[in-house]
Amino acid sequence: MSNKNIFPKWSNVIPGFVAAGLGLIGISVIFVFWYWFSPKHLEVGYQPHQPIPYSHKLHAGELGMDCRYCHFTVEKATHASIPPTEVCMNCHTTIKTDSPHIKKLTESYETGKPIEWVKVHQLPDYAYFDHSRHVNSGIGCASCHGRVDKMEEVRQVEPLSMSWCLECHRNVEDFVRPKDKIAEMDYHSENQQVEGEFLKSLYKLAPREDCTTCHR
Ligand code: HEC
Ligand code: HEC
Ligand code: HEC
Ligand code: HEC
Ligand code: HEC
Repeated sequence: MSNKNIFPKWSNVIPGFVAAGLGLIGISVIFVFWYWFSPKHLEVGYQPHQPIPYSHKLHAGELGMDCRYCHFTVEKATHASIPPTEVCMNCHTTIKTDSPHIKKLTESYETGKPIEWVKVHQLPDYAYFDHSRHVNSGIGCASCHGRVDKMEEVRQVEPLSMSWCLECHRNVEDFVRPKDKIAEMDYHSENQQVEGEFLKSLYKLAPREDCTTCHR
């Protein structure tokens, strides 16, 4: 028996299968990376549906409620709080109690089971962001979230990408406003260039650009 007959004839096709298999693995790895680094929540226009049709247009727009009434940690903490049901019940124990949506709210209040709001904005874990730092430096909500007071349902209006962050860090005078106007949705300076330069030096702003600022 000669050596070349040790393997049966069909084994000749195995390398082909192995190559095809490796190819598939390669493609799935690329797919996973592509998927991982471009998640839906980093997309401009991302607008998930919420379990209760809470409207910013009604509450923050027409009723004129201050953002900080509900997002009360935004000036003190890294994250802006999503209000617990108790905050809604300050009004909805008496307002529109016959609405099916408010009934859902009442149920959450009575059972202590929080409403599962769907997150709209979400940075990847490796990027560090702090609300209080920005808000206390005279950067308004609208610079990053747009006209939330006109949104029936919140959607992402800015890319939240690294180049977007840096665009402002490098040109902060184009965005900074008086600190007492950060929650004012329709704020507009008559002369942003002059006012921006003035506030930048008054508040001593020098946003950093080195990698460890945002990747720590
Ligand atoms: C009456 C309470 C209330 C007020 C006032 C309010 N919000 Fe909200 N906000 C909520 C609730 C509840 C959610 C979660 C559900 C949703 O996304 O609509 C939310 C979500 C958000 C989100 C999306 C958070 C995420 O998941 O990424 C942003 C941004 C936001 N609010 C900004 C604002 C701004 C800016 C103002 C002021 C103009 C404001 N809100 C006023 C209750 C409020
Ligand atoms: C400099 C840009 C910037 C400003 C100014 C800003 N936000 Fe945000 N906001 C973000 C980013 C980025 C996220 C996503 C944070 C994350 O995923 O860690 C976010 C997330 C949120 C969330 C979801 C909860 C959270 O913290 O992840 C709420 C609510 C919110 N912002 C409300 C506000 C309100 C209200 C204001 C004004 C008082 C405001 N933001 C000002 C950039 C900003
Ligand atoms: C300052 C008082 C106040 C607070 C706080 C408040 N609301 Fe309202 N809400 C109102 C008023 C006023 C209306 C309009 C009622 C009407 O149409 O007659 C309303 C309407 C609504 C509606 C529409 C109900 C329907 O079926 O027409 C929903 C849903 C709602 N609110 C959810 C919430 C949620 C969720 C919160 C907490 C995050 C909240 N509200 C906090 C005053 C408030
Ligand atoms: C519209 C303007 C604006 C945008 C957009 C913005 N920043 Fe900033 N950022 C500032 C200002 C102003 C400061 C405060 C600088 C100072 O105090 O000197 C700051 C400070 C910071 C700090 C604190 C730096 C330190 O010295 O500790 C971090 C971290 C940061 N930003 C991360 C981000 C990230 C991440 C994004 C994007 C998701 C972002 N910023 C988008 C304006 C902005
Ligand atoms: C002002 C904040 C900020 C600074 C400064 C910063 N980054 Fe980022 N970086 C981010 C944010 C936010 C993301 C996530 C955005 C995304 O996924 O699109 C990111 C994503 C990344 C990624 C992932 C790939 C990508 O492009 O999405 C790499 C790699 C990276 N940064 C490297 C760096 C390096 C190297 C530096 C220094 C030269 C740096 N970053 C400085 C905010 C910052």
